[in-house]
Amino acid sequence: MPLPLRLQPTSPVSLQTQIFEQVRAMILEGRLRPGERLPATRTLSEQIGIARNTAALAYERLTAEGYIETRSSVGTFVSFQIPESALYAASQNSPPSARKPRRAIGSPVNPTFRCQAVVNPHRGRLVADFWVGRPDPDSFPRKTWAQLIVKRLRTAGSDLTEYRAQSGLFDLRRAIADRLRPTRNIATNADEIVIVGGCQDGLSLVSRLMLGPGATAVVEQPCYQGAAFLFESFGANVVSVPVDDRGLDCSLLPDVRNAVAYVTPSHQYPLGVTLSLERRLELLAWAAETDSYILEDDYDSDFRFHGAPIAALKGLDRTGRVIYLGTFSKSLGAGLRLGYVVFPPELVERARDMKTLMNNGQPWLEQATLADFMTSGGYERHVRRIRKLYLSRRNALLAALEKHFPGGEIIGDEAGMHLAWRLPSSFPPAREIEQRAIEAGVGVYTLTSGAAVGFDTSPENDRYLVLGFSSLTEREIAAGIARLAEALAPVTDRKHRPKRLVVEC
Ligand SMILES: Cc1ncc(COP(=O)(O)O)c(C=O)c1O
Repeated sequence: MPLPLRLQPTSPVSLQTQIFEQVRAMILEGRLRPGERLPATRTLSEQIGIARNTAALAYERLTAEGYIETRSSVGTFVSFQIPESALYAASQNSPPSARKPRRAIGSPVNPTFRCQAVVNPHRGRLVADFWVGRPDPDSFPRKTWAQLIVKRLRTAGSDLTEYRAQSGLFDLRRAIADRLRPTRNIATNADEIVIVGGCQDGLSLVSRLMLGPGATAVVEQPCYQGAAFLFESFGANVVSVPVDDRGLDCSLLPDVRNAVAYVTPSHQYPLGVTLSLERRLELLAWAAETDSYILEDDYDSDFRFHGAPIAALKGLDRTGRVIYLGTFSKSLGAGLRLGYVVFPPELVERARDMKTLMNNGQPWLEQATLADFMTSGGYERHVRRIRKLYLSRRNALLAALEKHFPGGEIIGDEAGMHLAWRLPSSFPPAREIEQRAIEAGVGVYTLTSGAAVGFDTSPENDRYLVLGFSSLTEREIAAGIARLAEALAPVTDRKHRPKRLVVEC
């Protein structure tokens, strides 16, 4: 009988390890019974379309760890003696509901948590890579940054040798507050802000303040992995609420108390829709009624291409229920590891203490340089410049998609650094398209590869591709989509086939 393996060729985990882990899980969960015969490596490699050596290496590892045994000239079988040490690791790859948080005897490591995809496994190996959410490396204001950083270094005094305010440099907090008022309609001040190492650090900070086993974390369906997996790792009960074309469906919010609801209202991650005003008000009312907090992740709101920027949810909050997260990972770069959290006044002190407990605050020099960049007006000019650049790139992507896949259903393109493409029903699933594209040297990504998680397992999750456009030139975008169309021509409907099969790179 063929083994029901689900291999992800685009995963950073090698195929050999994926086979090893999946077969091991089948054995430990009783889906493969002691003494049961496994297919020969040749048969397995033919069934799933991999090199025979890959299958052989996976079997070798399973044999070495005692899960299977080979009887010469008879075949390969599941061992009768499963190694005891394996039992606690059984649940690592199964869905959260199936996992029991069990720890190894003698080991303090929690084996059950999952973590988000941050590093592109194909980086540098593709002709055109539509990896999501990365600023153009050439856009970083290197020259100005170098001048500002050197100036601060010269005058640093004890700033580099002392601990400074754990909630972050005052100048930077003030500059952020001054910017949030006009741009996001958030009336705040430096005292309510804590500087963190990007949104992820802010999410960790809030999770440490509010979540633990038994707590409820509400997330969007689909949701950013970095948030959902983090909440899971705290033992929270993660409840997903579907997103439609007006954002989170607030009529489906759970009837619980003291929950934390994580949302991306300006540009839902990954689908890109904007939470409607009516639903924003509904969400705020739910939080007030249930004594819950809303975690607003405003990760890419600097890039809204049409009309006035939409005010943040926090700007509508009259009852102190919204915790606002901002990051410089999108406007400047993820390498800076700088972001901020705006807390309701009653939480600020506890948040500051927790930040101290976590890491005694963020590096001083980067904070000081960024504060100077903001107060000099350089940051605002930089954002205006790259917004224009990303708008042209978004337009180039829309034009290329329309040229090669006319009438395609594109969502989330009004803002941000990526858009989502809902595939026509005549197209194969997104997973297959991603694979074909990668083989042709083009990176387009399923929701899962694009760091999103779908908590329902409906096939709908495999009908979307996400395409980032901010780090590709217009020429690269046009060439990449032409190449994609060529790669997909054999599997797409006639009407969706590219008219000219020209690869322009
Ligand atoms: C939804 C969402 N939030 C936040 C972030 C940024 O995280 P950080 O600020 O930790 O770099 C990302 C980055 O990909 C994201 O997609």
